[in-house]
Amino acid sequence: MKEELNILIQAQYPLIYLVTSEEERAEQSISTIAQTLKPTRRVYVWTVTHGIVEYGQPRNVTQHNTVSPEAAIEWIIRQREPGIFILKDLHPFIDAPATTRSLRDAIAQFKGMQKNIILMSPMQNVPIELEKEVVVIDFQLPDMAELNKVLTHHIDQNRGRRLSTEAREKLLRAALGLTKDEAEKVYRKAQVTIGRLTEDEVDIVLSEKKQLIRRNGILEYIEEDATIDAVGGLEELKKWLKQRSNAFTERAREYGLPQPKGMLILGVPGCGKSLIAKTTSRLWGLPLLRLDMGRVYDGSMVGRSEANLRNALKTAESISPAILFIDELDKSFAGSGGSGDSDGGTSSRIFGSFLTWMQEKKSPVFVMATANRVERLPGEFLRKGRFDEIFFVDLPTPEERQDIYKIHLTKRREDITRFDLEQLAKMSDGFSGAEIEQAIVAAMYEAFAQEREFTQLDIIAALKATLPLSRTMQEQVTALRDWARQRARPAASSVAEYQRMEF
Ligand SMILES: Nc1ncnc2c1ncn2[C@@H]1O[C@H](COP(=O)(O)OP(=O)(O)OP(=O)(O)O)[C@@H](O)[C@H]1O
Ligand SMILES: [Mg+2]
Repeated sequence: MKEELNILIQAQYPLIYLVTSEEERAEQSISTIAQTLKPTRRVYVWTVTHGIVEYGQPRNVTQHNTVSPEAAIEWIIRQREPGIFILKDLHPFIDAPATTRSLRDAIAQFKGMQKNIILMSPMQNVPIELEKEVVVIDFQLPDMAELNKVLTHHIDQNRGRRLSTEAREKLLRAALGLTKDEAEKVYRKAQVTIGRLTEDEVDIVLSEKKQLIRRNGILEYIEEDATIDAVGGLEELKKWLKQRSNAFTERAREYGLPQPKGMLILGVPGCGKSLIAKTTSRLWGLPLLRLDMGRVYDGSMVGRSEANLRNALKTAESISPAILFIDELDKSFAGSGGSGDSDGGTSSRIFGSFLTWMQEKKSPVFVMATANRVERLPGEFLRKGRFDEIFFVDLPTPEERQDIYKIHLTKRREDITRFDLEQLAKMSDGFSGAEIEQAIVAAMYEAFAQEREFTQLDIIAALKATLPLSRTMQEQVTALRDWARQRARPAASSVAEYQRMEF
């Protein structure tokens, strides 16, 4: 990222929009870049409270009368010397006609001069008049090398013991995804809690990180105890996932394999889509981050939603390799691209940014999305090449149902030989995995109330009392199946698929 910024500055991009909440770190790296340039450049910083101050100078050494945005930009235009001019938090003022106009004047005047304006702000707000002139980039979160500096500084300050290379790496990796300040805080907390910082404190660092990530509200660290064996059926899908267990290793890169991009799991409600997505984290040994699209949307301020999405994606990238889990994608992007946008186009813009990110991402973030209403999903998602594969999870076949009974009964009782799984499977035609589980639970409640062990007959009674979704929502389910047969790969084995056809 520093590279990118460096290139843009050298290539004399007049107006760069740097999205970040880490002002100090960003300023430092701009100043470092400025010093490596030939000739070196001076760096000036504008804030609405102090006007223009040269970087590194005390705040009272301000340029007179540069507090208002227009005056500041006028001042910048008047400078003959090369320079980098950072305008901090201009976003609330940038829409004012005078501000936009003076920025455009500045850009016109900068031609051939080594001058750049950098708009630095935690959120993106680019007025339409400037869209063509500005280049927007994200300031990435600290990488291992930068975190290493933080950690070293911390240990030196606390006169801590030297860490082994492995311990150090674990502590650094655990802090990936945090800002510099947050990393400092987390290391300090681990130190204070235990009184030292060693490899054993990795867990504290990790759990602190999880809390910090949760606090920002959009990403959530998910820990799933279940393994992929807790999912009945879906053999094809499991095979695909197992085949890719080591897809994010160095070895796979050396072998010449591309990094998997993502998968979309479509299917009937309650058939294990979310479950299998969650268990993949364990299978692949990668962290699972759920992106809550509902929380991305924020109507309080223009650009807020975009900033939320950017931040979340940035965090995911810095924790990568990781799985980014978007459950119920259809609900997240419903209405995007359609004609009836009711939110001033925010959802379309968010959707656009997300697609662009998916298209361009180089970092090993595997997108795992689920959906059950295909017709609500923008067509762009379904285009070939967007995801590595689109799987369709149908209602379970009789064999798959046996498997599901076995899993859920074994979870609850050690010995399940008293159950006739074949009969149960036969009696639950049209039931989803979730409904099968519910029937078992209902049977248990019934028997428990009568203070006895539950039996085959209790489950059968519960099944009879249930009207499965596939019947109450028959039309939707049929439509989804017809659609998916043509366009998605069945998640069940092809043999099972054949059986289903006959059923
Ligand atoms: N194939 C399956 N094997 C084992 N359990 C299953 C299976 N399918 C569903 N279940 C049970 O039902 C629960 C709900 O399933 P899950 O949340 O994965 O469904 P889903 O396909 O994501 O549904 P929705 O479309 O409503 O989100 C699971 O937690 C699990 O206990
Ligand atoms: Mg689900």
